[in-house]
Amino acid sequence: MIFSKKNEHELGSDASETTPAGNALDLLKKDHRTVSALFKQFEGAEAEDEKVALAQQICVELTIHAEVEERLFYPAARAALDDKAENLVDEAAVEHRSLKALIAEMDGSSAGDRLFDANVKVLKEYVEHHVKEEEREMFPKLEDEKIDLDGLGAKMAELKSELQAKIGEAKHPRNGAKPSVHVPVLHGGNGAHSKAKSSTSKSKNGHTRSTSHSAHR
Ligand SMILES: [Fe+2]
Ligand SMILES: [Fe+2]
Repeated sequence: MIFSKKNEHELGSDASETTPAGNALDLLKKDHRTVSALFKQFEGAEAEDEKVALAQQICVELTIHAEVEERLFYPAARAALDDKAENLVDEAAVEHRSLKALIAEMDGSSAGDRLFDANVKVLKEYVEHHVKEEEREMFPKLEDEKIDLDGLGAKMAELKSELQAKIGEAKHPRNGAKPSVHVPVLHGGNGAHSKAKSSTSKSKNGHTRSTSHSAHR
């Protein structure tokens, strides 16, 4: 990464290794603050390599965060909430699809690309809207429910560490190559990249069919 050690620490990118997990809602809010700080830093950045590094880190943070929510938090929320409040989880899941489509759009892009800044700006707006709904509508409802937020938080912190280890270090550009954003692929069928850019399914004859989500792009 291009960041200095100081910046990494300030941004909390290694927070899961140094601080206790806290409950599920605290963990998610902390992620939200981390991404918000990265967007703020992006707005003040001028050097192209710094902008790419920040956009890269935003995509990584959001991809891991969305995966943890989808695999652990949203199912727990769905189980705890009544039918009416469950709609909040459906809406959040749909919003994740749009976020992932935009993140996938940024894959391979460089700071000099015409739409680079616009993509990051729109991603920030999507994220702000989504975070507001989670924190103001969904989370308060869960605080009133009998749900083991500490136990869930511990599981989420564990999954987050696993995903961080899987993604590993950011790739450095080859000598002379322009730095560009590399969207992490977490696994075959559920990563930001694979899910947002295309979804595949087996047809009757066993061939893999690909469906493009062009409406989001
Ligand atoms: Fe979310
Ligand atoms: Fe979230």
